[in-house]
Amino acid sequence: MRLLDQYRAVRAQTEALAAPLSAEDQQVQSMPDASPTKWHLAHTSWFFETFVLSADAAGGYRSPDSRYRMLFNSYYDTVGERFDRARRGTLSRPSLAEVRAYRLHVDDAAMRLLEKGNASPPVLATIELGLHHEQQHQELLLTDIKHALGSNPLQPAYAAQWDSVAARGPDSDAEHRPTTFRTFTGGVVWIGHEGTGFAFDNEGPRHKAFLRSFALADRLVTCGEYLRFIRDGGYRRPDLWLSDGWQLCQREQWRAPLYWRSRQGGDGEGDWTSYTLAGPRPVDPLEPVVHVSYFEADAFARWAEARLPTEEEWERVAEEEPLLGNFVESGRYHPAARGGGFFGDAWIWTQSPYVAYPGYRAPAGAIGEYNGKFMCNQMVLRGGSCLTPASHMRPSYRNFFPPAARWQASGIRLARDA
Ligand SMILES: [Fe+2]
Repeated sequence: MRLLDQYRAVRAQTEALAAPLSAEDQQVQSMPDASPTKWHLAHTSWFFETFVLSADAAGGYRSPDSRYRMLFNSYYDTVGERFDRARRGTLSRPSLAEVRAYRLHVDDAAMRLLEKGNASPPVLATIELGLHHEQQHQELLLTDIKHALGSNPLQPAYAAQWDSVAARGPDSDAEHRPTTFRTFTGGVVWIGHEGTGFAFDNEGPRHKAFLRSFALADRLVTCGEYLRFIRDGGYRRPDLWLSDGWQLCQREQWRAPLYWRSRQGGDGEGDWTSYTLAGPRPVDPLEPVVHVSYFEADAFARWAEARLPTEEEWERVAEEEPLLGNFVESGRYHPAARGGGFFGDAWIWTQSPYVAYPGYRAPAGAIGEYNGKFMCNQMVLRGGSCLTPASHMRPSYRNFFPPAARWQASGIRLARDA
């Protein structure tokens, strides 16, 4: 697809994702990590304004408001001052209408630039980066509004129900397809992005890694399996947990994944419901579990006498798999009981810390702040989720979040030594 067509499609998709939300919905911020929809709409436009339109002094671009440079800067210290992330929800001005006008203003200038057809390769590369950046924010828009709506006692739905499970209730007698572990022989493998398609800087350079023989589960861990962990005292057994995770589990009184509620309280007895973007629903034991932290994923793996895969193990397998799965285009916004492929449904936590690949150098300038400066204290997630755009996914893609994060659609795929 031409870059201009990609630009139109990605920008329109962001608008489509915001469309079911009222102006009040788009204003709310339910925790420091989660941004208001309105802020996502503005910040993704700010990216094009700051790094493409304003960067071209000869282009004659003028911002509708020079203060937006500070207001919608996320974390780029070399760009200058920025507004406090935890207080983005207090920005009742500019209004939603003004933010939408800002988007149109940026679109007008960006599309004129693309239509002229004489933009330099570095400018085109930055526009392409801006589109992948916007796709990342599309996923965050959904996880963040899920947290906001899910924190509301009314538990309102973002979108309509996608099937009849809520009506019939989960089929507790339904049998799991047993997990099988596929074995892979160890050796030297190539890891990282290669080729001409888009990739973020943190996916390279492609390099050799040594893997011992390992086995990887052929599917994600389900809610039914996770319920067994809960009922077996998984949240009460310190021997299963990393120290930081156990402290957090105690302090936050974790007893189940984020958004799960037990009607009878306690540790897994009674009926569990989970808040989804279609509203609260009975937990379906056949669906992949989501909204667990790294600590919970790691504890579950230990309980299951397995471990989490490394990112290299996962990528070794993913490179041979078709790029299929339950992505955001399905309109479910939730994992599927019988997923459509190796990818999608839930990002899987790997046991790999998010660090630079051998030979990695962050790009010069402000864009160098995009990924490189976060390579500390976070873990790598792989594979994409039910909230990820399909065109955003590839085997070398490295997502990363702190080990305590639960509001992303993060799940578990088990591995073992072979
Ligand atoms: Fe961003």
